[in-house]
Amino acid sequence: MSDTAVTHPLVAGAVGPGCKKVDPIVVADSVTRTFGGLTAVDVQHVEIPRGAITALIGPNGAGKTTFFNLLTGFDKPNTGSWSFEGSSLAGVPAYRVSRKGMVRTFQLTKSLGRLSVLQNMLLGATKQPGENIFTALIKPLWRKREEEITAKAEELLARFKLDAKRDDYAASLSGGQRKLLEMARALMSDPVLVMLDEPMAGVNPALTQSLLGHIKELKSEGMSVLFVEHDMHMVRHISDWVIVMAEGRVVAEGPPETVMSDPAVIDAYLGAHHDTDLGDMTGSNPVIEAKEAAAAHHGGNADRKDEH
Ligand SMILES: Nc1ncnc2c1ncn2[C@@H]1O[C@H](COP(=O)(O)OP(=O)(O)OP(=O)(O)O)[C@@H](O)[C@H]1O
Ligand SMILES: [Mg+2]
Repeated sequence: MSDTAVTHPLVAGAVGPGCKKVDPIVVADSVTRTFGGLTAVDVQHVEIPRGAITALIGPNGAGKTTFFNLLTGFDKPNTGSWSFEGSSLAGVPAYRVSRKGMVRTFQLTKSLGRLSVLQNMLLGATKQPGENIFTALIKPLWRKREEEITAKAEELLARFKLDAKRDDYAASLSGGQRKLLEMARALMSDPVLVMLDEPMAGVNPALTQSLLGHIKELKSEGMSVLFVEHDMHMVRHISDWVIVMAEGRVVAEGPPETVMSDPAVIDAYLGAHHDTDLGDMTGSNPVIEAKEAAAAHHGGNADRKDEH
């Protein structure tokens, strides 16, 4: 990036690695995690903007998933503190983190194969009085809530075009459908921040367009999104902000058009990734663009194709 201070509406002050945001939803300081002699995460300062779609990119092994695990309470750091909506989350277990409105999906989907699609959805709900040993004994207390939760699950399944699979085992879904199920399940708890770890990985190209649409919808409904992705077309097309990690650190951040043409970022990828296509990093994608143009022309209905 150039020496003259670059500004951006999401940023308070100058744009650069670790820059302060106007309205951050997550703020992390000095978060480190080592595995034996390896420092997987060493984030000095990073802020995730509220109400925006932020992509977290970086070569394999950069520490993206480990950072997700730390923020969401699935792993414990060696050092560091971080807050979500202004309250500290360090030491807060994963189930409490999700109740606070920060939910995540996994790089390898974690849907429970021997449960039905609907049962998987119901597991994503919070505030279920039937889970409490005392209220569980009094059916009227939980029956109404259970009906509400089921109705919500069915609505989300319809939105994600999984309603026809409602009673099938989750194990029978395709890889892409499982990604959709995970995303739908994440929405059962009315999250404020949705964190997606490689939502596109393993997804059939026929489903990618609808996945992009679903992620953009989260933002238009007022949620903040943080996603990890290697698919640069997706990063370019839907993110408002891009944060780049390499060797555990935040090495660059900025709007996609700037970051993805930054030689240091391209080097960070190429350093570990000699087979990365530079065209993928910096070029546009005529196929996606043509699909988007067609979708806009057809009233935004890009969900016609599905994967079965
Ligand atoms: N449980 C673990 N035990 C030992 N090393 C680990 C563990 N989890 C991650 N690592 C190491 O930490 C580093 C960061 O891994 P991480 O999975 O966070 O990277 P990533 O950026 O998500 O990579 P990818 O893009 O391949 O998913 C890697 O070197 C990895 O081998
Ligand atoms: Mg990962």
